[in-house]
Amino acid sequence: MKHYQIAVLPGEGVGLEVVEAALTILQQIAQQFGFTASIDRGLIGEPAKQKYGDYFPEETAQLCEGKDGILFGAVTQGGLLELRKRFDFFANLRPVRPSVYLHDRSPLKPEKLNGVNLLFVRELVSGIYFGASGRGIGERGPHGYHTMLYYDAEIRRVARVALQQAQNRRRHLTIAHKENALPQLPWTRLVQTEAEAFPDVTVEPMLVDTLAMQIVMNPQQFDVILAGNLFGDILSDLGAVLTGSIGTLGSASLNADGFGLYEPIHGTAPDLAGKGIANPMGAIASVELMLRQWGEIEAANCLTQTQEKLLSQGYRTADLMMRSEDRLVNTQEFVDLLIEMMVRD
Ligand code: IPM
Ligand code: MN
Repeated sequence: MKHYQIAVLPGEGVGLEVVEAALTILQQIAQQFGFTASIDRGLIGEPAKQKYGDYFPEETAQLCEGKDGILFGAVTQGGLLELRKRFDFFANLRPVRPSVYLHDRSPLKPEKLNGVNLLFVRELVSGIYFGASGRGIGERGPHGYHTMLYYDAEIRRVARVALQQAQNRRRHLTIAHKENALPQLPWTRLVQTEAEAFPDVTVEPMLVDTLAMQIVMNPQQFDVILAGNLFGDILSDLGAVLTGSIGTLGSASLNADGFGLYEPIHGTAPDLAGKGIANPMGAIASVELMLRQWGEIEAANCLTQTQEKLLSQGYRTADLMMRSEDRLVNTQEFVDLLIEMMVRD
């Protein structure tokens, strides 16, 4: 029997609740699809700071070492960037596929959402998040700066991941760039060179501001969208609202060895935390991505399909409630229903 070992870092806020929910489901899936998963829990963010005086302590880093994946909840600040950097998780995948049962929760018109299936590939360990930064005092007073620096090689390696993904999907890659103002970061040229090895993928450079507008006006045109760290952060939140709630999206962040960090893209949601009402779909989507990365494709498909079925029957967590016929469920009820449906079908 196949055995996987995962590190679990719930973090703070709703992170704790949604990660537990996702783990319950993972254990059920494992049983059903004939594998086992063992879990080591570690601290990150505020709880780690309190215990070890560090948002991302060495103890936690060690715990993650050599595992088959890291399941992560949420932190408010501190710890996450260090974790991404430590394991060189440079390729952040954020799929956006609005469920047809949630089209009416989206700010976009339903006809704009039919068939929308995007994948953001965001560079995650370089760019302005990690460039030289500081504060100083100059002639005109105090100033601050962050530098958007990319090695060509960093752009090329994430481009290859995006091209590979596009090849296995609808073979279209859009590059988010801002070369009219930032010509020293030639994303278009670098990605196009890498694309020579993927002749069946069409590559379309698009200015990031235009791209933001197009995601809202006509999201159906996109397949894979490649972006640097900051642009990818902003665009993927924009993409997430198409689904009706940012609570539904998961992500995978992979390094060159295929080792990955799996996290919902919503944050700690302090207004919901501790109430047991958070939407576990983002954490479940992250588990699904982990299963795909392991090659447990059938298990992943089962999870997606069962969740669609649950949504089709009108079950909604509070963030997705809209109509009187919606059936409000809390986190635990959502999990129980999902498991019940998985066992039955
Ligand atoms: C995300 C988050 C983080 C980021 C924050 C918490 C630093 O917004 O994962 O998208 O900007 O990368
Ligand atoms: Mn973000």
